[in-house]
Amino acid sequence: MSFTSVHRRSWLSEQDCDLDSFRALVERTTDLADYPYAASVERNVLLYDSERLRRAENRREVQAELVRALSDGPGIVVFQGAFSDPSVVDRLTEVFDALIAEQRASGAEAGDHFAKPGANDRVWNALEKAALYDAEAFADYYANDILALVSTAWLGPGYQVTSQVNVVNPGGVAQTVHRDYHLGFLPNDVAAAYPAHVHRLSPVLTLQGAVAHCDMPVESGPTLYLPYSQTYEPGYLAWRLPDFQAHFEAHHVQLPLAKGDAAFFNPALFHAAGTNRSSGIRRMANLLQVSSAFGRAMETVDREAVTNAVYPVLLRRLSEGADEPWWANVIAASAEGYPFPTNLDSDPPVAGLAPPSQADVVRRALREAWTPKALRDELRAGAERRQS
Ligand SMILES: [Fe+2]
Repeated sequence: MSFTSVHRRSWLSEQDCDLDSFRALVERTTDLADYPYAASVERNVLLYDSERLRRAENRREVQAELVRALSDGPGIVVFQGAFSDPSVVDRLTEVFDALIAEQRASGAEAGDHFAKPGANDRVWNALEKAALYDAEAFADYYANDILALVSTAWLGPGYQVTSQVNVVNPGGVAQTVHRDYHLGFLPNDVAAAYPAHVHRLSPVLTLQGAVAHCDMPVESGPTLYLPYSQTYEPGYLAWRLPDFQAHFEAHHVQLPLAKGDAAFFNPALFHAAGTNRSSGIRRMANLLQVSSAFGRAMETVDREAVTNAVYPVLLRRLSEGADEPWWANVIAASAEGYPFPTNLDSDPPVAGLAPPSQADVVRRALREAWTPKALRDELRAGAERRQS
């Protein structure tokens, strides 16, 4: 028996990548009976009926099943009807279209990781831009319970939502297969410099999602996935290798989405955006990258500005009887939910525990009906206390 077969590897390298062992992991069949809350299995992917999840009595059980599906299962879950009211999606689509028009008018071309500038429309940091453009449409959208359900299941509380709009026009070409942030964005030699346990850690630091802002039949090029590929430990070093790319080309699956559906997947899943072969579908998705409180998000978001923009909407809706999940979900998607890093000289722990996070301050403000000005001042003071 070799040393490596009884001990987990401490370091990974491209030489560890072996297509046969990869195939043994990905050539599995998803059995609906293993996932009692799922509605169906299509092309090896689990589909959930969002209404049924909303009615489920045991939220923890639902979340446990989602975690199992994302970690050891197919690695992707589709929530049909995640947005039950299509007008909520349409209102944010209007905001995205306005942001794209502004971006074009200013002459700024948003580059893309994969496509050449101009081939697609991209709005980076759409979270902040949408909140500042139309706080009401933003709040109604990010009050979404399915987004909160799956983000909390995978990342726990204090998660940080970032959003990027991706519009692929007819003729827009497919991406190459890849894994996502963190290690998926590093070249192989840099990724290989991180020990194996960090390769296992990276997928739990973020959750990838996409909300369909239009109906996306397969010909419009919804994302291509290879179920179970997130379970392959050296996968961050494998996806650029030609035999793995060829396997992805031959075996990926693609699922149509309807407007308001949302797909969430393990960031270690092998995936790629598809080619838009339709004649007239401008395929728009809101790509959500949700970060663990303990991770560093890829994008900078001015959460103070987002929170200040959204707070008057929260105050008004609360006075109109909005229930707690509604405003709690909006706060989770907008305010910073974690109090660190901070300056411990000027922002000392309270009673030995963490100082309040931005989200804690907003919740207190709502409870005590602070004015927007009072919240603005306190958030600013908190930001200054945190500076070194
Ligand atoms: Fe990706």
